Amino acid sequence: MNKPDPSTTLAEGIEIVANGKSVRLPVVRGTESESAMDISELRSATGMITLDPGYGNTGSCRSAITFINGEKGILRYRGYPIEELAAKSTYLEVAWLLIFGELPTREELDRFTCEVTQHTMLHENFRRFFEALPKDAHPMPACAAAIGTLATFYQDPDSDNHVQQTIIRLLAKMPTIAACAYKHSIGQPFVYPRNDLDYSSNFLRMMFSTPCENTEADPVIARALDLLLILHADHEQNCSTSTVRLVGSSKANLFASISAGISALWGPLHGGANQKVIEMLEQIAADGGGVDRFVARAKDKSSGTRLMGFGHRVYKNYDPRAAILKKACDEVIGRVGGSSQLLEIATRLEEIAMRDDYFISHKLYPNVDFYSGVIYKAIGIPVNMFTVLFAMGRLSGWIAQWLEMQADPLFRIGRPRQIYTGSPLRHYAPIVERG
Ligand code: CMC
Repeated sequence: MNKPDPSTTLAEGIEIVANGKSVRLPVVRGTESESAMDISELRSATGMITLDPGYGNTGSCRSAITFINGEKGILRYRGYPIEELAAKSTYLEVAWLLIFGELPTREELDRFTCEVTQHTMLHENFRRFFEALPKDAHPMPACAAAIGTLATFYQDPDSDNHVQQTIIRLLAKMPTIAACAYKHSIGQPFVYPRNDLDYSSNFLRMMFSTPCENTEADPVIARALDLLLILHADHEQNCSTSTVRLVGSSKANLFASISAGISALWGPLHGGANQKVIEMLEQIAADGGGVDRFVARAKDKSSGTRLMGFGHRVYKNYDPRAAILKKACDEVIGRVGGSSQLLEIATRLEEIAMRDDYFISHKLYPNVDFYSGVIYKAIGIPVNMFTVLFAMGRLSGWIAQWLEMQADPLFRIGRPRQIYTGSPLRHYAPIVERG
């Protein structure tokens, strides 16, 4: 695994005077020249901490995995532009790249693919796990619980001997778990994985086949899914990845940490936005396609409505993943021949928002979730599975980030501080004396 490079710390530092005490804080510079004040000594030297709600100005780690320049709309995994990986790579190759730091050789990729393929089956007791869930269980919490449950089947998953196998098992079993969660939610029997199929084709078959009828995935559709998995594979220290790191920082095992990451991803401000985007587009279609009306509502804060799939904490420019997916929409819809109504509404929404002062001044652009749902919908993925597919892609990034953190020489349990705003000291009164 790649370790963070400590040589990026600049000697001169920045002088801070706080509480009448002075401290020189080192400046850490990354390989793309972004820089940070290292405040590790701030509290011990001055008694003060920093306060940064939402962590918009706080770097939690040094990382060699993913680089984003939100102002310029740049995303790279291990130095490789997302556009090149999207055009030329496969999800398992990208997973290897993220986890091990380099593109694999042919032999490494073949071995990795073979290992992942051979671990796709679930223990038969998983049937009883799914049977215990309500019949309309949402697949997202079902997946989070199932991934956490893997730790009961494979104990001691993080020991030096087992961590490699844990990585393989996670990548191999996630699509099977996801397909089972879906099949359970519609009352159909589970479909076993097949070892002669590639990662995405195997998943699509487990989703759409039944014991009565085999459905082989169209290669164009399987490639579209693989592309979506690549584009979602990592995105540095977002909410779910930070959750994986925070949980893992207590030395909780990899299964438990990933399970927590899936739960964090579920929220509508994060991965759950893809489901909300399609619901928004369908609502606009049902209301007669009034795009201008919806944009006006999204600008009115009192309406409580946001333009879902727009805006990003880091990107203040077009999300490069959205640009790739926008192009892919046409190809997929052309292939499956379905209605392009939702894509047309999405395109109109984007056109209007991109000309509107509110969206321009707030630097709100389409994010990855804006067009991904249109593709999922076109290839027949049910809406409640959209965020599960985001999790399937993000899995490789979560694993890479967790491993990087465990190997970091600066590793410490994650434990933010706070400014207490509650009552000052007061004393307990017996219940009979309380008015
Ligand atoms: N529609 C309308 N206004 C918006 C939107 C939006 N989608 N997003 C942000 N704003 C406004 C917001 O009201 C605020 O305005 P003002 O400064 O006038 O009060 C300003 O823009 C900044 O918003 P913020 O909520 O402080 O920004 P943030 O960085 O905390 O939040 C965000 C980022 C992604 C949560 C937010 O843009 C949002 O809610 N977008 C819609 C949900 C969405 O698409 N999420 C998917 C994110 S990408 C996939 C992923 O990695 O999860």
